[in-house]
Amino acid sequence: MSSIEKAGLYRLGDRTVKRLGYGAMQLAGPGVFGPPKDRAEAVAVLREAVAAGVDHIDTSDFYGPHVTNEIIREALHPYPADLTIVTKVGGKRGADGSWLRADAPDELRAAVEDNLRNLGLDALDVVNMRFMFDPHRPADGPVEAQIEALADLQRQGLIRHIGVSHVTSAQVKAARRIVDVVCVQNHYNLVHRDDDALIDELAAEGIAYVPYFPLGGFSPLQSDTLAAVATRLGVTPMQLALAWLLRRSPNILLIPGTSSRAHLRENLAVAEIDLDPATLRELDAIGKP
Ligand SMILES: NC(=O)c1ccc[n+]([C@@H]2O[C@H](COP(=O)([O-])OP(=O)(O)OC[C@H]3O[C@@H](n4cnc5c(N)ncnc54)[C@H](OP(=O)(O)O)[C@@H]3O)[C@@H](O)[C@H]2O)c1
Repeated sequence: MSSIEKAGLYRLGDRTVKRLGYGAMQLAGPGVFGPPKDRAEAVAVLREAVAAGVDHIDTSDFYGPHVTNEIIREALHPYPADLTIVTKVGGKRGADGSWLRADAPDELRAAVEDNLRNLGLDALDVVNMRFMFDPHRPADGPVEAQIEALADLQRQGLIRHIGVSHVTSAQVKAARRIVDVVCVQNHYNLVHRDDDALIDELAAEGIAYVPYFPLGGFSPLQSDTLAAVATRLGVTPMQLALAWLLRRSPNILLIPGTSSRAHLRENLAVAEIDLDPATLRELDAIGKP
């Protein structure tokens, strides 16, 4: 069994994927805007991820914009049959790199078409509807019009499965009254635990929960306890944060982002890390109020 298989498997749409995947956002330039400094390394990261067994890659055409998807296509097309590429729509980039809402039906169709063209696909495996009612946290707001628009594109065969992102529990339920929601992608990690209850709700329903910023994203996780336990176990704090997420719930799929093969190797090795109950309790306490 390869190291990444030890992390286990979980259902994502009509497929089963390995719980250790890869998030491609870091492959674009600084601020997820423009080309990367080292395109060859970006291509190498993707190829090494897939060679190591990764079968779930998260992306969006607004990373770059377009750049990340173009690099994925250059590195991996034609895609392995078992590779699930999950993308997201609902936003666009301003000329200054700002992140703007773009969720009118015609904008969602255009975003799906951009993803299809830049990834070189006839249909997208999973499309997350990324809501932006509040930039900083999931916030109340109606989701029906956007989910109906994606359901329409699904009926037309352009999308195979639908997920939701940056959402509340009530919004997940509202979306599920319209379509089969296969995954939820929200901000969550060892120190940012707002979604504890939602994760458990989704686990009971067999729905994948895919935390974004698993390592803290633009503000890398910092905790004295995390650092101390990592030193004790002989791993890095980032590895330990990922290992904790794998233990947190079986429906959690990891998509840590990195632009370097060295970090990729560290991240894909975390299924090997044993966490005994006392250590888990110690780590759990970090994010408790
Ligand atoms: N739905 C949404 O709204 C949303 C929002 C944000 C992200 N996402 C998705 O979630 C994925 C993950 O989020 P993210 O990439 O923003 O944040 P992340 O995975 O929490 O952290 C990425 C950062 O950690 C660094 N890093 C990665 N592995 C490391 C390691 N082993 N040791 C030390 N540093 C390490 C990366 O730098 P290096 O490049 O130097 O390794 C990068 O700066 C993204 O790729 C994207 O697909 C979704």
